[in-house]
Amino acid sequence: MPATIVTGAQWGDEGKGKIVDHLAERAAMVVRYQGGNNAGHTVVIGDTVLKLHQVPSGITRPQVAAVLGNGMVINPPALVEELEIVEAEGISTANLHISATAHMVMPYHLLLDELQEQARGSSALGTTKRGIGPAYTDKAARRGLRMQDMVDGGDQIARFSRDRFAARVGAVLPRVNDELDRLYGHPGFTVEEIVEAYAPAAQRLAAHIKDTGLLIDKALRQGQNVLLEGAQATMLDIDHGTYPFVTSSSPTAGGACVGAGLGPTQVQEVVGVIKVYTSRVGSGPFPTELHDATGDWLVEQGQEYGTTTGRRRRCGWIDLVALRYAVRVNGFTGLALTRLDVLSGLDEVKLCVAYRLPDGTVTEEYPFDTEIMGQVEAVYETMPGWQDHFHSARRWQDLPEPAQAYCQRIADKLDVPICMISVGAERNDLVALRWPI
Ligand code: GDP
Ligand code: IMO
Ligand code: MG
Repeated sequence: MPATIVTGAQWGDEGKGKIVDHLAERAAMVVRYQGGNNAGHTVVIGDTVLKLHQVPSGITRPQVAAVLGNGMVINPPALVEELEIVEAEGISTANLHISATAHMVMPYHLLLDELQEQARGSSALGTTKRGIGPAYTDKAARRGLRMQDMVDGGDQIARFSRDRFAARVGAVLPRVNDELDRLYGHPGFTVEEIVEAYAPAAQRLAAHIKDTGLLIDKALRQGQNVLLEGAQATMLDIDHGTYPFVTSSSPTAGGACVGAGLGPTQVQEVVGVIKVYTSRVGSGPFPTELHDATGDWLVEQGQEYGTTTGRRRRCGWIDLVALRYAVRVNGFTGLALTRLDVLSGLDEVKLCVAYRLPDGTVTEEYPFDTEIMGQVEAVYETMPGWQDHFHSARRWQDLPEPAQAYCQRIADKLDVPICMISVGAERNDLVALRWPI
């Protein structure tokens, strides 16, 4: 029963979309298992650049069923807009399935995200303002609205039900409006305006809403390859990341089982996607961040601007302390290294192999205290850089020797084998050493 998890090992934007799209060639199903349209996953096919936010990155493969899993928080109007963009590229969205138990991002979640960030002032988290935190808050508080709350269906094809949706919205809105009024002096929302805003999307999406866990189980029982696509990443995980500078879901491998609705015994491989340097958008500790010309060079060379919000990403050297921690909490069976080409042109490259703590001691272990994480100093190892450009590399031996040594050093320090190395944004710009599926 070959399910394969593909998830980010750092602070996001590692190139998960690229890796999932590539692997999807051999998959029957791709399932997004958490997050919402805070994600931005880029898929490049020839001259076509697709920026996916809620739609799984396998959508471009005709044989792939694309599933939005129960662990996601879905913004229905934004999803419809995204489907239109995908269809405009000539890609069919007929084989798209949306979990009936996935929660919805509501208009008041977007507003609350904005107001809560404003209220945090100088300690703002730098969220994507897509309503993710407030939507997961309502889920955990057991007052969220789920995709099934918009439709009538049972075991037949689901249809939009205005009455049901209005009743569900009506049941939760008084508390929401009370919060908006008391904390922010905001007039709040009416049931009618929310139903009107979501009705067209509900109509468009209704027939896709179903028990996706059942579909996944059927595929696995037939021995088909199922890819579980993580959004965000390990260091943004609500439990394992640099809390509170995290997202509100579980991108780590354990979250894949919960968010897709399958058991851990069905997972065969866990692929950790690692950018060969580090980037982070939003606030929070980042020990290897560079505030110098090399940092600016990485931003420009790598065009490190957010796929979702367009924000300039913070950039720095690879952090093997945080990555060893990511190996521990995810149980990676293989590594997909990305953006190796971006480092071409440096005389030397640095790898953070330890942290110096505020009291002067040096450790190779990730500190569980976020405040300490914000104070550590990175201890580096230096290796020779390389000048060659190698987008066309398809085999290990096509890579310059110093780049090979750099990749090998990462694999050795993490004690996990490399399965693929991405050398460009395009779907086929990749050196495959071992197919994990
Ligand atoms: P994701 O959120 O993890 O899917 O990553 P993003 O799509 O947000 O950001 C990764 C960016 O790097 C996108 O613009 C990709 O097209 C691009 N990309 C992915 N792999 C490579 C690579 O190996 N080399 C280069 N130069 N760009 C890459
Ligand atoms: P992909 O899937 C990078 C960051 C935000 C912020 C924090 C919380 O493309 O890798 P949220 O809106 O989730 O409440 O924001 O998490 N963040 C991401 N950073 N890539 C992402 O997704 C991210 N999704 C959220 O910048 O710091
Ligand atoms: Mg991204």
